[in-house]
Amino acid sequence: VHLGGFMSRVQTGILPEHCRAAVWLEASVQGDFDAIRQGCKTFNQSLSALQDKFPDANLGAVVAFGYDLWRDLSGGVGATELKNFAPLGKGLAPATQHDVMIHILSLRHDVNFSVAQAALAAFGDALKIEEEIHGFRWVEERDLSGFVDGTENPQGEETRREVAVINDGVDAGGSYVFVQRWEHNLKQLNRMSTQEQEMIIGRTKEANEEIDGDERPETSHLTRVDLKENGKGLKIVRQSLPYGTASGTHGLYFIAYCARLHNIEQQLLSMFGETDGKRDGMLRFTKPVTGGYYFAPSLDKLLNL
Ligand code: HEM
Repeated sequence: VHLGGFMSRVQTGILPEHCRAAVWLEASVQGDFDAIRQGCKTFNQSLSALQDKFPDANLGAVVAFGYDLWRDLSGGVGATELKNFAPLGKGLAPATQHDVMIHILSLRHDVNFSVAQAALAAFGDALKIEEEIHGFRWVEERDLSGFVDGTENPQGEETRREVAVINDGVDAGGSYVFVQRWEHNLKQLNRMSTQEQEMIIGRTKEANEEIDGDERPETSHLTRVDLKENGKGLKIVRQSLPYGTASGTHGLYFIAYCARLHNIEQQLLSMFGETDGKRDGMLRFTKPVTGGYYFAPSLDKLLNL
């Protein structure tokens, strides 16, 4: 990779694989920009200290910004694809765009909690928390629907970096982020036969084998999101995890990182009927209740806003 002699460090929460727990904070800005700039620095000092204190936790975190705030913080330079997330599919996918998204992930929920507390302390009154979700890795890396999630995710640091991280220009080391919290209706799912469920996803449930493209419906999740453009696959890096309570609200907190916002958007358009009118079959048992686009600048940029 040619970086003109300058290596932009990537924020530490984008590339790790197989985390076991995550915390997501989405917030709106109520302080001045200097408080945000200082908050980013203070937060990263606390993060580094906790990374040193718990080296086995594989702790990472990301601070990302919505369009309005990033335009102000960056002076309008770079992140040209960034925009506010707007509803899709006649409101099927609602938009709940906020200013800041903080993603904390590691092997340890206890360490994540400390990082979340450090974030609140660092930003203080400059941020108003609008959503806080704690995610956990479920058995066999399955989504709460019972299907293994993440199988076709890009693997290995180099491959993941190629997909998720912008590799040159003013945004080098940065990444576009999409978050969308889904609420599952597992009673509804379990009324369907296993075979019906498998046709919705496009993979078998227990063995997690891909079902051939011509044997699964066009509405299957795999067919909706496994897209090609000029013969090239539109790849993204997913870091989603299940969240919630057994008796109450639960589902998947979906999060994707990509060097191109375009890739994520094309998959969303395809899922919500905005390309060929067909919708993702998963909508029969689950629905998105939030949605927002963010930009995660390189660590170097974050510390020099
Ligand atoms: C694949 C579940 C939302 C993009 C999968 C797989 C499952 C799954 C079980 C197959 C295994 C794998 O390769 O990971 C879900 C659930 C969702 C959800 C339960 C929400 C409730 C989304 C969204 C997007 C997306 C919103 C895109 C914006 C993908 C991609 C793949 C995938 C790119 C890999 C396809 C391939 O190359 O085979 N998802 N997903 N998913 N999903 Fe999702």
